[in-house]
Amino acid sequence: MRHIIDLSDLTDKEFNDLYKLTTNIIDRPEGYVDACRGKVLGSLFYEPSTRTNLSFSTAMMRLGGSVVGFSDPRSSSTTKGETLKDTINMVSCYADMIVMRNPREGAAKAASLYSSVPVINAGDGGHLHPTQTLADMVTILRMRGSADDMKIGLCGDLKYGRTVHSLLHFLERFHNVQVYLIAPDALKLPDYMISFLKEHNMPYCEVNSIDEVLPELDVLYMTRIQRERFTSAQEYENLEGSYQLTAEKMKRAKKDMLVLHPLPRVDEIAQDVDDDPRAVYFRQARFGMFGRMALLLTLSKLPFERAGHQDIGHEPGVRCSNHKCITRTELYVPLHGKIGDRCPYCDKLLELDI
Ligand code: NCD
Repeated sequence: MRHIIDLSDLTDKEFNDLYKLTTNIIDRPEGYVDACRGKVLGSLFYEPSTRTNLSFSTAMMRLGGSVVGFSDPRSSSTTKGETLKDTINMVSCYADMIVMRNPREGAAKAASLYSSVPVINAGDGGHLHPTQTLADMVTILRMRGSADDMKIGLCGDLKYGRTVHSLLHFLERFHNVQVYLIAPDALKLPDYMISFLKEHNMPYCEVNSIDEVLPELDVLYMTRIQRERFTSAQEYENLEGSYQLTAEKMKRAKKDMLVLHPLPRVDEIAQDVDDDPRAVYFRQARFGMFGRMALLLTLSKLPFERAGHQDIGHEPGVRCSNHKCITRTELYVPLHGKIGDRCPYCDKLLELDI
């Protein structure tokens, strides 16, 4: 456990220890006020964020540590043309850990190659968001006791929703998890994630509305239609407002079903759901902060060794097929593999470079 690119990088033991520490912090936060005293978190947000950014900063401050960084790339040297590699090299001279959000897929993995301190992925484009998964898992485990034998509905923007992708990666390790994918055709779970479900024998079905499956569900994970991931305004407007959960619909749900949402919400959960005790999304945000405290504390104590020399550049004739992949802009990042292999940074297929 050095870099946290995806939560599923953690072994069962590492995750169980992290969860145990999280629950200790939730139950006795005053015992941790100096736990990271003297430590500095480098916080690099190349993309807007309220929750994750504030959550990490608050987590570090509640541990007695401090935070440096930026929440808008316009205030960093990126605007002067600095490479990701140089920024990371430099920040890892100052900070003890780095948390990073970047719109390019695979960016955190690429950054980790050049860092002499642990890098935590706080979201890389539509790819992964491991600490949101940590928030989701802490919520499920605290409120339900276990993630085994669970019917979970994932609703909304399954195409661009990185929180969904990370959560599915992690749920693979639990027993008898049944997945209901609730999304309009244009926002269906991408093929590479469907392949993941198949490869890991995770039973899933794709449905077109919440109503079709609501009474079956133990957990309903709602997500926002992500405007910023669309290329045209028209494409976004065609889907806006679809897949809404209301108090009326909640009448058909199980009495102990949990409604989760990574937030921010737009209108996919009506305001009249907020007072329902099954709506746990604000508690989920609080659990997320405690989970991040546990993660920062754990990483700050681990011995760390910088990765060895990294080969520079791409293998001739090969490139990642994903135009949002970090390897498309940071050309020095090593990319090796055969055409048809998965990209080591963003998981999409490698293709012929023409
Ligand atoms: C999510 C994200 O940024 O991926 N938010 C979060 O981190 N809590 C979901 C979203 O932006 O819709």
